[in-house]
Amino acid sequence: MVVEKNVPLQPCNTFGIAARAHTLVRVRSVDDLHAVLADAQLAPLPKLVLGGGSNIILTGDVKPLVLKMEIKGLRLVQETDRAWIVEAGAGEVWHTFVAWTLAQGFPGLENLALIPGTVGASPVQNIGAYGVELQDRFESLDAVDLATGQSFTLDAAQCAFGYRDSVFEHAPSPSQTEGGLPRGMGLAGRAVITRVRLRLPKPWKPVLGYLDLERRRAEAAVDQPTARQIFDWVCDIRRAKLPDPAVLGNAGSFFKNPTVTPEQCADIIAREPRIVHYPMADGSIKLAAGWLIDACGWKGKSIGKAGVYEKQALVLVNRGQGGDSVTGGEVVTLARAIQTSVYERFGIRLEPEPVVW
Ligand code: EPU
Repeated sequence: MVVEKNVPLQPCNTFGIAARAHTLVRVRSVDDLHAVLADAQLAPLPKLVLGGGSNIILTGDVKPLVLKMEIKGLRLVQETDRAWIVEAGAGEVWHTFVAWTLAQGFPGLENLALIPGTVGASPVQNIGAYGVELQDRFESLDAVDLATGQSFTLDAAQCAFGYRDSVFEHAPSPSQTEGGLPRGMGLAGRAVITRVRLRLPKPWKPVLGYLDLERRRAEAAVDQPTARQIFDWVCDIRRAKLPDPAVLGNAGSFFKNPTVTPEQCADIIAREPRIVHYPMADGSIKLAAGWLIDACGWKGKSIGKAGVYEKQALVLVNRGQGGDSVTGGEVVTLARAIQTSVYERFGIRLEPEPVVW
């Protein structure tokens, strides 16, 4: 285990915000985690687990110990007549994992192509795109309890997945240990995900129906697309709509799509007939946060060096560069201004997706 001091974090967060970690350890194995927890100086420090840094806004230097997750490995765990079970180390880049499964002939993750971040972060937010969420393909994950050093495995039910939500998004309660293992809601800051296993069902069925994908299918005049075609379409759609963090710093969608009751929705439609809304299985209505922000005139606007992307109002971007990068404070100021105008116009409170640290 190598302990690094005063480490620049600008290359470690996709927003490209300049900040430093006082202390950083690169975690390449579960043994590295055990070594941290056995170290008298490191063990008691508060900890920040960093994956691809695609879902974090840094508002200053990071004093807690940064655990940079770099556990690698991609493998087929099992193949049955009903599914392929595949596994990836937490430090693998998510898109690399998706591309690897397709290259091996295991389809099922194509709708989730090009989502930024690492495999270890994918269950935290229950990443999703184009009609598929991680929970639809999830088998189990391995994690280490930072309080006790114990390893444990969680299935989908124990992860308590919701829309961009899981047990890893909620703070633990102090009395939440049973037989030495964390139990119930709340593993944020408590558990480090080390490996993730996914179940890719057989026979493979394409997930279409999402407007942008249906448009591509119509253009290509294909009735039964292959997984590879869907992968290519998703990559094209995302490249056209979403900024590449390597070119323009960003953290993907900055806000969650809010849900409202049918009554609230009817009330808004009466005032704003063009509002984009989707009925959900549970009877609630999901609204497109990007549309709400766009309707408030924010597309292309900036506060300081924090900007709203021209092609997708749900994405905030870094209009600074290198040493002149946006600050986390500017991003938070812009996000608050957007929340205020959406609330004043629609009575809806937008909830940020990334963690503000
Ligand atoms: N819209 C506007 N103006 C905008 C942006 C969007 O009018 O500036 C409208 C679009 O025309 C569309 C609707 O809003 O009718 C929804 O937009 P889009 O299809 O682009 O999807 P989204 O709801 O903005 C969500 C996810 C994305 C995911 C896409 C595709 C959330 C918060 N975001 O975006 O996820 O890629 O659907 O499935 O759920 C991410 O989480 O980082 C992310 C990129």
